Amino acid sequence: MTSRLSRRGLLGLALGTGAGIALGGCGAPSSTGELVRSGIRLPRAFETPLPSLEPLRPVSTSGGRDLFEVTQRHAEVEILPGVRTPVLGYNGTFPGPLVETHSGREAVVRHVNELDVPVSVHLHGGHTPADSDGYPTDLVHPGDTREYVYPMRQRASTLWYHDHRMDFTGEQVYRGLFGMHLVRDAEEDALPLPGGHREVPLVIVDRAFDEDGRLAYPSAPMDHSSGHHETNGWVDDAHVEGVLGDVMLVNGAPWPVREVDAARYRLRVLNGCNARRLDLVLDPPPPSGAMFTQIGSDGGLLEQPVDHDHLKLAQAERFDVLVDFGAYPVGTRVTVRNRFGEGRMRDVMRFVVARKVADESASAEELRSRGPLSTIEPLDTTNARVREWRLVRGEVHGRPGWVINGKAFDPEEMHATVPLGEVEVWRFLTDLHHPVHVHLDPFQVISRRGGIPGDFDRGWKDTVDVGPADRVDVAIRFNDYAGRYLLHCHNLEHEDRMMMAAFATT
Ligand code: C2O
Ligand code: CU
Ligand code: CU
Repeated sequence: MTSRLSRRGLLGLALGTGAGIALGGCGAPSSTGELVRSGIRLPRAFETPLPSLEPLRPVSTSGGRDLFEVTQRHAEVEILPGVRTPVLGYNGTFPGPLVETHSGREAVVRHVNELDVPVSVHLHGGHTPADSDGYPTDLVHPGDTREYVYPMRQRASTLWYHDHRMDFTGEQVYRGLFGMHLVRDAEEDALPLPGGHREVPLVIVDRAFDEDGRLAYPSAPMDHSSGHHETNGWVDDAHVEGVLGDVMLVNGAPWPVREVDAARYRLRVLNGCNARRLDLVLDPPPPSGAMFTQIGSDGGLLEQPVDHDHLKLAQAERFDVLVDFGAYPVGTRVTVRNRFGEGRMRDVMRFVVARKVADESASAEELRSRGPLSTIEPLDTTNARVREWRLVRGEVHGRPGWVINGKAFDPEEMHATVPLGEVEVWRFLTDLHHPVHVHLDPFQVISRRGGIPGDFDRGWKDTVDVGPADRVDVAIRFNDYAGRYLLHCHNLEHEDRMMMAAFATT
């Protein structure tokens, strides 16, 4: 469908639906999903130290590129204190190691699959040629090795990598196949941001554990009749809405605690949950100044720092924020809470402000007075083609599932052929919460229900939180790499139950 877009038309519509937007979150469940309850005694909150993510060192930096090697293997790790949990791990860790690469410098990650299941690796937020993008059917089989090539022609940003195997993404990510990937560049390095141990990646996931300490994922029983996948891969019918865990893990530790200096920190927050949306606040709020100063989104730096008094993250979204622990008296225990959670899922982790220090990083005010953090070219949507993507519940292979434009995912079927270099408007229409993610290039949110974008829609995004009966328009342009790519819901149970659509760039 093609139509012309006018700013005025959009704003006109907004007046009619304004009330609906304001009330959107109230009363409705904040996440689409069913809770899985752990069968094991859970630890007390704020006693386990926050782990630092293991940095991945390149095995070679010669020839103008960085070569990394990752072995995907079965491992037993201690997530709950004193309990051994089997995981599928990148290098056997949960989460996988922290990968750091540099804008403009090619990175190659050689993945060795020592697991007993096929895998596909996707760099989420990567501007990646199709043959390295981790298409769900482009599998690395047990015993095989595959080099994923990332040209890294993209700006500094907070990316993550995770499994993308057809039908099994929800389960294989749940069992450990996820990790963070930071891209650095000179523009960002030149900013007086907190660095070193004051730059802290926070990978947040929820999980449940069975009585033996294994990760409890409610897989469907083996189904030999359907014939469309060789074993069970899907979640069971009771969890088609999504899998919610009852343990909050940050960097692989339950409700952890971390001592901090009374200084500014840069937190790089990823919501890596399968189905849980998060709304984070600091308790207590800082006595002065902003709670969170956002400096970056999925696709890197914003133009200006933006203050928030909460941080709403749908699955797969990343926020790059400054928190000034120097605003708190030494000794303060600052708890990160999740306003979307119930019971123990209201708690995430705790920072303890331990000591006064000198802080050479710039304050939010100083950053603002220096001028723009970065420049973001606004995509011009005048006369842009509009494509609609309708994400709703539907029947797939005779079972409950999720469809896009009426269709269950078919890896061979292209929903659209999109010319490289052209700006289009993609309109996402939903029945329930569906965080919509597009591979290959980021987009800019231009409207919600015809009105202005939301507080958390700024900058370059690759995943957008689309609410129940919602309509979000984004401007998108694919700059290079012809091939087949995906648009999908990042509720991983929805994704596995076929809420994906392929498109081709040409
Ligand atoms: Cu983070 Cu196609 O996924
Ligand atoms: Cu992606
Ligand atoms: Cu969904």
